Amino acid sequence: MTSSYALKGHAFEGYGLEGRAAVVTGATRGIGRAVAGQLAAAGALVCVTARDPDEVRSAADELGGIGVSGSVADPDHLREVTELTLRAFGRIDVVVNNAATNQPYGPLMEADPDAWPEAFAVNVEAPLRLVQRAWRAWMREHGGSVVNVCTEGAAHVGPNVGAYGTSKAALLHLTQQLAGELAPKVRVNSVSPGLVRTEMARFVWEPGEEELAAGLPLGRIGEPEDVARAVVWLASDAAQWITGADLLVDGGTRVRTAYSAREYAVHDRLRSYAPPRS
Ligand SMILES: NC(=O)c1ccc[n+]([C@@H]2O[C@H](COP(=O)([O-])OP(=O)(O)OC[C@H]3O[C@@H](n4cnc5c(N)ncnc54)[C@H](OP(=O)(O)O)[C@@H]3O)[C@@H](O)[C@H]2O)c1
Repeated sequence: MTSSYALKGHAFEGYGLEGRAAVVTGATRGIGRAVAGQLAAAGALVCVTARDPDEVRSAADELGGIGVSGSVADPDHLREVTELTLRAFGRIDVVVNNAATNQPYGPLMEADPDAWPEAFAVNVEAPLRLVQRAWRAWMREHGGSVVNVCTEGAAHVGPNVGAYGTSKAALLHLTQQLAGELAPKVRVNSVSPGLVRTEMARFVWEPGEEELAAGLPLGRIGEPEDVARAVVWLASDAAQWITGADLLVDGGTRVRTAYSAREYAVHDRLRSYAPPRS
């Protein structure tokens, strides 16, 4: 079975993704949607997830794949995702842990201890649980690859994003730990995006994109497709001798101080953003 979404051409030659089955969490918009789209274009069978059932249905239909709605923080949802993928496609070759939360937002000293675990349930525990399920159901015997979506920001601290950054740093560590534990059958890597034009980061890029772009060595903020290309490449056979790696896709964010003396505008935005009180 090959997805009807598959494009002919050479863009994915050597990727070996034709007929493989891939689960992408948080795939109804933004980076996850772009990843699922490129996987389908490379000939993979995709299972998309997100919380909104209508969005999941329409993404799955567009991609010629399947979808499961629910939160990755719910272990039963992850069980359903792996069971349905196996039932529909007979295999699970690729897992992309993309869904994430940036909550609780604000200084850690003001973080509600009851809200703090949410960051870890979504950003760290869920990727582990999903990989455990895929490993036991298929990958242990047949192999596969995992890509976790981290963040460029995990390597340093920033205003108001302590829970997000701490949990993403844990995801980075988890990636390396699993890469060692699951080798040689399964490769586990991560991609760390800089600022990308998505809903999650709208509050950062929308108020002054030009200024943000001017401070970046590559002159623009990222698009979901920029990150998706890296994720799909790492997930594919083209990266067959790579495991435990973190691929920065950040337009040069990390090397910006050698490019310009400007202040880091992203941190200004994070500092000045006051989220609506719930
Ligand atoms: N955008 C950036 O600048 C940036 C930078 C660095 C890293 N990242 C990382 O990139 C990844 C994708 O973010 P994005 O910017 O593409 O976000 P986005 O556009 O807001 O999309 C998030 C996707 O995840 C789903 N989702 C959110 N919470 C979920 C949950 N608990 N369970 C299942 N699905 C959930 C959303 O759908 P529902 O709301 O319907 O669930 C949606 O499909 C995240 O890991 C994020 O940390 C983004």
